[in-house]
Parts: sequence; C-alpha cells; structure tokens
Amino acid sequence: MKLSMLGLAMALASQAALAATPAPPLQDKQAFIEHLIQQMTLDEKIGQLRLISIGPEMPHAKIREEIAAGRIGGTFNSRTAPENRPMQDAAMRSRLKIPMFFAYDVIHGNRTIFPISLGLAATWDMDAIAKVGRTSAIEAAADSLDMTFAPMVDIARDPRWGRTSEGFGEDTYLTSRIGQVMVKGFQGSSPANPDSIMAIVKHFALYGAVEGGRDYNTVDMSLPKMYNDYLPPYRASLDAGAGGVMVALNSINGVPATSNTWLMNDLLRGEWGFKGVTISDHGAIQELIRHGVAKDGREAAKLAIKAGIDMSMNDSLYGEELPGLVKSGEVTQAELDQAVREVLGAKYEMGLFKDPYVRIGKAENDLKDYYADARLHRDAARDVARRSLVLLENRKETLPLKKAGTIALVGPLADAPIDMMGSWAADGRPAHSVTVREGLRRAVGDKAKLIYAKGSNVTGDKAMFDYLNFLNFDAPEIVDDLRPAAVLIDEAVKAAKQADVVVAVVGESRGMSHESSSRTTLEIPAIQRDLIKALKATGKPLVLVLMNGRPLSIGWEREQADALLETWFSGTEGGNAIADVLFGDYNPSGKLAITFPRSVGQIPMYYNHLRIGRPFTPGKPGNYTSQYFEEPNGPLYPFGYGLSYSSFEVSGLQLAKNQLKRGDTLQATVTVKNTGKRDGETVVQLYLQDVSASMSRPVKELKNFQKLLLKAGESRTVTFSISEDDLKFYNGQLQRVAEPGQFNVQVGLDSEAVQQQSFELL
Ligand code: BGC
Repeated sequence: MKLSMLGLAMALASQAALAATPAPPLQDKQAFIEHLIQQMTLDEKIGQLRLISIGPEMPHAKIREEIAAGRIGGTFNSRTAPENRPMQDAAMRSRLKIPMFFAYDVIHGNRTIFPISLGLAATWDMDAIAKVGRTSAIEAAADSLDMTFAPMVDIARDPRWGRTSEGFGEDTYLTSRIGQVMVKGFQGSSPANPDSIMAIVKHFALYGAVEGGRDYNTVDMSLPKMYNDYLPPYRASLDAGAGGVMVALNSINGVPATSNTWLMNDLLRGEWGFKGVTISDHGAIQELIRHGVAKDGREAAKLAIKAGIDMSMNDSLYGEELPGLVKSGEVTQAELDQAVREVLGAKYEMGLFKDPYVRIGKAENDLKDYYADARLHRDAARDVARRSLVLLENRKETLPLKKAGTIALVGPLADAPIDMMGSWAADGRPAHSVTVREGLRRAVGDKAKLIYAKGSNVTGDKAMFDYLNFLNFDAPEIVDDLRPAAVLIDEAVKAAKQADVVVAVVGESRGMSHESSSRTTLEIPAIQRDLIKALKATGKPLVLVLMNGRPLSIGWEREQADALLETWFSGTEGGNAIADVLFGDYNPSGKLAITFPRSVGQIPMYYNHLRIGRPFTPGKPGNYTSQYFEEPNGPLYPFGYGLSYSSFEVSGLQLAKNQLKRGDTLQATVTVKNTGKRDGETVVQLYLQDVSASMSRPVKELKNFQKLLLKAGESRTVTFSISEDDLKFYNGQLQRVAEPGQFNVQVGLDSEAVQQQSFELL
C-alpha cells in the first residue's frame, strides 16, 4: 500500500513536471506529439480513437459537449463550414485543444460529380483522373473537409458485387496507377495544404474478392494471388503518400481484417513500413462478434486494437471497453499510445495543429449557398465524362448521329438525374445533373426534333423496386410510372415510328450497383428488354446507351442494337458528354477496365488468369478442354476494348534486342496509325507473359500503356521500355523475383487483338 501510494505520488509529480515542460516547437512532429500524449488522460486518449458519423438526426449540442470533454477524435458526414465550425470550436474549448478532423466519402467528386470510378478507369487517361482527384479535393477542402475515404482500390473480378462500380476494375497494374494518381490529386503536394484532403485507401484488404460477389462475404485466397494480384494497388497508393488505410469488413482466410494481426501489423506496418492511421470500416469492431471471433464487445475491442486498428468508425466499443481493458492491463498503455500517436500524427499531417480552421475558414467568409451551381466545375466534369464513354458497337456507321430530322429518345434512364450521379455521389445534387434528355436537347437546339417517351420503368419487380428505394433515405431513388407496362411501350413505339433514329437509355438504376447491391444475374431487367424488343421491331436504327455500374451480359442486346455506347454513371455533366459522343463532337476513346462476360455463369472471367493444362482454343473446341459447352467461350467484350469513330492499326512490333540482361532495359516499338477519317485518341497497351516459370503465370498481364491523339491518317512510333522490374512476381516463397527464360511481349489496342514478339531474360 505504501509503495503504491509512493508510485502514485511519483507519477503525479512526473505528470506535473511534464505539464510544466514547455511544449516542443510544432515543427518537431515527433516531440510535439509525444509531449501531447504524455499530458493526456486515459479518457482523452480513448476519445481520440473515436470517429463518429454526424447525421441530421444527431443531437448536435450533446456532440459538442462530448468534443469539449475530449471524447471524440473526428467526425464524418458533416460537410460544410457552418456545420463543422461549432465542433472545432468545441474542440478548442477542450483541455488540450486537440483539433478535430472532418471526413467524408469523396469518391468521384464532392459537389461536381465525375463518372463513377469504373468509368474513370475506362478513360485510361491519367491527366483526366488527376483532374478528378484535384478538383474533388479543392471542392471538399473549400467545404471544410480534411479527409476522404478514398481511393477505393479493391480489385473486382466478380461483377455480381455491387461495389464493382466503386473501384477501377479487374487489373492490378491499371488500378495501381490510378490509385497513385488519385492519392496525389487528393493530397496535392501535401495533405496539410488548405486545398488538400488526406486520402484514406480502402478497403484493406481484398474486399473485392468476396465469395460469390456477395457483399460482406468471406475471402479465401492463396498468398501468391494476394501478393501478385490484389495487394499491389493498396501498396502503390500508400507509396504515393496516402495518409491512412480503411480496413475491410471481410475476413481473409478465416480471420476478419479488423482483427487481423498479420494484415495490419506484419504486412502493413512491418513488411510495407506503413506509417499512418488505420481506421475500421463502419461498425466493423462490433461485427467481430458476428464473425464469431469475439465473444463480446470487450473482446472485440481488445482484438481490434491489438491487431492495429487505430480509430474506430461509428462503433461505440472503443469508448465503452478500452477504459476497462487498459486499467486491467489487457491492453497495454503502449498499445493505446501507439493508436493515439497515429491519430494525432494524421491530424498533424493534415495541418490541423498549425491551424485547426485551415479548411473551415472564418465565419465571415461562409457562403450563403453551398449548393450554388456556380461552385461546380462543369467543364472538367464534361471533359472527363466524355473520355470515360466506351463505344462497344457501331454497325453501318449508325453513330455519330446527325443533328437533323427526328430523334426518339426513350428509356427509363434517359431522364434520370439521380442515376446520372452513380452511387457514393458525396454532396452532389440531382438537380445539378444534366440528364441524357437535357444533353440531347441542348445539343440539337432547333436543328432536330427530339421526342421523348419513358418506355418502361427500370424494373417491373416490386420487391426490387422497394429494395432500391429503401437505399435512399432522403428521396425516392426510382420513381415508378404507374401506367401499365404495355402503355409505356406503346408510347415509345409511337415515338420511334415517327423518328429517323431511336436512342434508348437502358441498364441499371444507380442503386443496383451499390454497397450491399449484389446481383445474381447481369442482365438488364426484363421490363427494359421488352422495350428494346418492341423498338427493334419498328425497324428503325437503334442506339442503345447503357447506364450501369458493372459489366452486364448484353449478348442479346448487342444483336438488337445498331450501336452500343457504355456510359456507366457519368456524373453531373453526363448528359452533355453523352450528347458530345452521340453527335460526334467528341470522338470516343474509352476502353473497358473490366471484362464483359457473356453470362453470369462464366464468372469469374478476367483477362489475366493463370495458365492451365487444357486451355480452350478458339476454333478448336473438342472435348476435354476448359470450356462451357452450351455457349461460345471467351468474353463478350475483352478487357481494354473500345471503339472509336476512327480506326487504328498497330503494326511492326519490334524489340531492340532478343536478350535482356538484369538491370538493363529493352525497348519495344510499334507503329500506330489512325486509318480513319477523323482525329481520335486510342490506348496502346503493352502486355507481358512469362512463358515458363517456377509457378503458372498469367496468360498475359498489362504492364504499360499510352493514350495517344492521332490526326486522321497520322502514324506514330510508340516506344515502351521494359525493365527487369516489369518481369518480377511473387513466387511460392513470396520472394519477388524475375526468373530467367522466355517472355512474350504483346502490344495491341485491347487485351485480345495483339501483336507478339519474344525475348529472353538472362
Ligand atoms: C463503407 C465504406 C465507407 C464508410 C463510411 C461503409 O459502409 O463500406 O466504404 O467509407 O461506410 O461512409
């Protein structure tokens, strides 16, 4: 008793001495943060680990009280300066005045909405994507936000997964490149800049590989597949400087990511040397109980913090359980301090200790209308959107359309402002969306007659309709036209009969490609297919404009349509961008960043699969090869595919030498010619294949690409430099090696139509 009294007295004395120590200069990050940690009480430390969601229904006065008491570290979902300033003021009234940060899901724009991520990837245009990241950050920071939960770099190879729309597709290399560009766009030269926001890469890890494409399901994967295919985009985004990581909701080989010591301690912080904050996904600590790895909340909190979750997102368990766990010694002071250190470190990196109001600004500068149209970056949105559109078919030069005669515009998505934005549309407003109808109307002016008829609802399935509307709390997501389906179709057919050409905008409503919106089929809903059939029967040229957030199996639609344009959910300026392409004011240049399968039964279908012993060879079917016998094999549209109003030819692939020494580089050159009548852009893609290695390697892997603008008739030589690094992979022992032997180099304008040459790595 005596001893512990003495101990207590010493501890108090040392705390008093510390408090008396003058704070180290702000420039010395480590010393500054350590000094702060030493002054913090247990409750204040735990408070820093709590990230809470601010909804309109929240008791704001109570939240401010909690903040002033040091019990909240940051919030998300509150998104304007007038909302966030009172919370920062409360933090400035707290004992240690540790600033709050304010986060939000700024995924593909904040107020100006750009195409969904899968559409951004289809641009293959790193300048355009940089513009998306930068513009989003400028808008978000101007609205007082400090942090975004993006980029989402989960590789998705099962399009049943609704969150396929949120990522950059199936390919490791393309996703890694885009992840880096997005991080740099969000953070600018430093996340501390007043017009930068911190990027939190998600969802670490492997969320895109949930079994069966069913959201939140388990992931079971071999280590080489993880290391070679799924982990590199997270790593690349962190190497680009992302300040933090959001941890995934799924388990990995039986251990939930949120309690996965291997994932966060060994791999992320150990192997990769990551120094930054980790944040759990929404409610994920609590979910450890349902995963069946924690018997109660106390154990869940203990597992999460020990595995390396610094900050808990909208989860009460850290607040409730950590005090007891630390007092009992089950969670050590050092473990707690480490988590606090990372949260404070992130705040430091966001420039908040220097100026807690760096993005909130002064009240006198608050805007009257945060939603004013004048605040949008419409030119940037239109430019990026038109680059994201992928022309899939164009028979008999149906496109571009003439701005003359009569055009019938039909389809449930032709005039759908909410759907234009896609899911996770941040603070975008449907009223700002230019729909396809509006885009076409503006484009034709009085030069052509535009007749509009809805033609069908998005779905005729009441249960699906209710599900989609349940997703949106503020407004109905989809509005049903209550007239019978046949009446709607009749109206559309009448419009078609009067027209020279029919443009039908069909596909998915945005809620169909969303978190928790996994599908068992990839088909366009039956009610819309009935409409297409009726339109086809009119014999008028039929242009299908697709809106969707995942590959669809559109084999039948392809046969009905004369032209097929994939437009994803193309954002605020989508309607103008689509009109630009339909009328030829912009020559389409997008290429698929994900394979389109023929049917759901072919899934998983991705271009860079491993080699096998009995591959299917097109043209030589026969028995005992790897195939499905009831439909053609191979994809409907391969990765990297997309047409233009010009035509391009690739020829004369040459390698500068046929042997590569380690440490050396090898040049591959090819000639690309625009053989069409219009100037246009295309994407020259370089794939490599390791012909014989210690493990089966993919049939090909994208390793580089260049997007080029070529004038009509122009030819250009394109050179790619191949280095030993491009040949490396993780072998069975997880060593990153380039093994000697033959490599095939393939260059083309999609992943299938390629030229090939070989060299040997010595
Ligand atoms: C999602 C995350 C998102 C978070 C915060 C979760 O449901 O999985 O991607 O960042 O909510 O909104």
